[in-house]
Amino acid sequence: TRTPVNVTVTGAAGQIGYALLFRIASGHLLGADVPVKLRLLEIPQGLKAAEGTAMELDDCAFPLLQGIEITDDPNVGFDGANVALLVGARPRTKGMERGDLLSANGGIFKPQGKAINDNAADDIKVLVVGNPANTNALIAQAAAPDVPAERFTAMTRLDHNRALSQLAKKTGSAVSDIKRLTIWGNHSATQYPDIFHAEIAGKNAAEVVNDEKWLADTFIPTVAKRGAAIIEARGASSAASAANAAIDHVHTWVNGTAAGDWTSMGIPSDGSYGVPEGLISSFPVTCKDGKYEIVQGLDINEFSRARIDASVQELKEERDAVRELGLI
Ligand code: NAI
Repeated sequence: TRTPVNVTVTGAAGQIGYALLFRIASGHLLGADVPVKLRLLEIPQGLKAAEGTAMELDDCAFPLLQGIEITDDPNVGFDGANVALLVGARPRTKGMERGDLLSANGGIFKPQGKAINDNAADDIKVLVVGNPANTNALIAQAAAPDVPAERFTAMTRLDHNRALSQLAKKTGSAVSDIKRLTIWGNHSATQYPDIFHAEIAGKNAAEVVNDEKWLADTFIPTVAKRGAAIIEARGASSAASAANAAIDHVHTWVNGTAAGDWTSMGIPSDGSYGVPEGLISSFPVTCKDGKYEIVQGLDINEFSRARIDASVQELKEERDAVRELGLI
């Protein structure tokens, strides 16, 4: 039998946590033959609700779930962690300045990064879901100098999945026929969903669509503002689809991308495509044997270049702001 993988989830008592934990425990995160031990990290006010969720996890009698531990101490929460899903974050509230948002999140992600540095397993893989995800990942990474920088990633898979679905609808194709779609940049309204290299049933997606106006005025804003549209419709932010994307992100990272396809992940830049080294930006990546690589050699047209640059500019500004606050 395989040794269980330790999976730590922060913000476990929140909305995304509730949609996420059951799928981790049922084998969707790592594989149907991989036993898991869950650690739920919450703040003191969240502990009771996390205990309730743990009771329900017990009641599912998942064969793969070999233990649940609940704590509000990051050193305990990340002890021996192989996979860490950092979901708990401080959301932007009305009238909140960006500096306040970044420093509030610095207060969460800096200590968590340090606790990961000091306690996690050598093979730790980190996914930051909590917003602003890219910059929170940068803060956690900076606090974990002993962990290889590339183990800190931010989630743009929800944007990727949203783009797949919108493109499938527009072209009357199946999502499974679409390959090589890319989200570039920040997980924010400036992100750029790129279909110029995408294929639909083997044909170039931009040529199939053949409608730059739809691309600029409908597709890109629909994907980028989908989170707000969900809040408007549901009266609550996207939780199940965010949890699903977190599952997809880690599953792909661990188990690999399909031949001929790639995915989108927020990862530390190595300078590819003019993205300054070290910024955590979304790129097209292939995954194999638990490692990812940026897809190289793509031609970036003017339409794409301007949009990638704008999103990267925003990431630079966020980085400068957290630098000024002493968070990195
Ligand atoms: P929520 O408010 O329902 O839950 C957040 C939970 O985090 C709460 O239970 C809270 O007690 C906990 N928490 C706060 N600080 C913590 C800390 N220091 N340690 C451990 N737990 C802590 O929020 P929800 O809906 O689950 O969303 C979580 C985050 O995910 C938000 O920041 C949201 O903006 C982000 N998000 C990111 C997406 C992406 O695509 N990257 C998509 C959707 C949401």
